[in-house]
Amino acid sequence: MTKSLLILPGDGIGPEVMVEVRKIIDWMNEQGQDFEVSEDLVGGAAYDVHGVPLSDATMEKAQEVDAVLLGAVGGYKYDELDFSVKPERGLLRLRKEMDLFANLRPAQCFDALADFSSLKRDVVAGLDIMIVRELTSGIYFGEPRGIIEEGNERVGINTQRYTESEIARAARSAFELARRRGGKVCSMEKANVMESGILWRDVVTEEHANYPDIELTHMYADNGAMQLVRNPKQFDVIVTDNLFGDLLSDAAAMLTGSLGMLPSASLGAPMANGRPKALYEPVHGSAPDIAGQGKANPCACILSLAMALRYSFDMGEEATRLEASVEKVLADGVRTPDLMQSGEGTPATTSQMGDAVLEAFKRASS
Ligand code: IPM
Ligand code: MG
Repeated sequence: MTKSLLILPGDGIGPEVMVEVRKIIDWMNEQGQDFEVSEDLVGGAAYDVHGVPLSDATMEKAQEVDAVLLGAVGGYKYDELDFSVKPERGLLRLRKEMDLFANLRPAQCFDALADFSSLKRDVVAGLDIMIVRELTSGIYFGEPRGIIEEGNERVGINTQRYTESEIARAARSAFELARRRGGKVCSMEKANVMESGILWRDVVTEEHANYPDIELTHMYADNGAMQLVRNPKQFDVIVTDNLFGDLLSDAAAMLTGSLGMLPSASLGAPMANGRPKALYEPVHGSAPDIAGQGKANPCACILSLAMALRYSFDMGEEATRLEASVEKVLADGVRTPDLMQSGEGTPATTSQMGDAVLEAFKRASS
C-alpha cells in the first residue's frame, strides 16, 4: 500500500521548515519507502494565487490523501483581509471538512531544554503529557452565533453545544491513546457551571466502562489550568473541549520551554484503507518576523512528520527513532536561535539543524 502525503508549506517560516522535512522523506524513499508526495498552497500563499486561503481543488486533494502535513498560515500582509478569506480560514476549513475531531497536542520537555521553561527544572524535566482537544464542535462552531442589536445596544453571541456522539468519540480517542502511554486520562470541563460540562462528564464516564484498564479522573478546567502549572507531571492524557483545549494546550506548550519543538496531529474517522483522516502541523505559527532568514527551528515540523509515521502509517519504530534523533541533536548542543540564551555562541541555521537531525536519523537507522 503506497503512502500518499499532501504537503502544504503555507506562509512565513512554513516553507523553510518544510524543506527540512522533505529531506527526511526523500531519504526514507531512497531507503525503499514509498511515500507519494505532492505539494500545494494554503493560507496567504493560496490567497495570493487563488483569492481564497484554500482552493476547492486543494480541499479535494486533502480528502483523498493518507495524510496532510501543514507548515503554518498567516502573515502581516494579510492582517487587513476580510474575516472570510483570512489565512486561518483555510486551516479551519481543512479541520471542519475533513472532520478532524481529535486534536493531539503533546507537551514534552526535552531534558536539554528544561532550563528554558519558565517553571523550575524539577517541575518540568521529563514532562510528557498529551492533550486531546475536541476540534470540530463546541463554541467554535455552535449556533446561534453573531452580533445582534437588542434595544439600543449590540449583543455578541456564541453557543457552546455538544452532542453525546461528539463527546464520546473524543473520549474514545483519549482512552485509546492512554492505552499506548501511561494508562491515565483526566477529563476537564466546567460541570459546576455549564450543562454541556455535565453532559461531557456523563458521556466520558459512560465511555470509560469500555476501558477498565484506564484510570479516569475529572477536573474542572480552571483547576486543571492551575494544576498544569503547579504539578504538570501528574497528568498523562488530558481530554477536553475545543475552547478549553485551545487555552490549556497553549499553557502546556509553554511549560516545555520552546514552541519551536512542539508538533500536533488532528485525526478523524478511519478511511476505507483503515488509516484515519489526518493533518499534522507544528504548533508554532508562521513567525513572519523571522521568515526567510534561516532562523526557524525545523524540529516541530520534523516531529509532526514523526507523528504522521506513528498515527497514519503504522511506523511507530521509525517515529520513535526520528524523535530520538531530535533529542540526540539537542543533547549534542546544536541550537537554533530560539533554543539559546543571548550571547551563547553561534546558532545553527534552519538547514544545519535539519541536516543534523537527518544525519542522526541515518545513524540510528543503520
Ligand atoms: C490553534 C489556533 C487556532 C485555534 C486559530 C489559529 C484559529 O489558536 O490551533 O490553537 O484557535 O484553534
Ligand atoms: Mg490556539
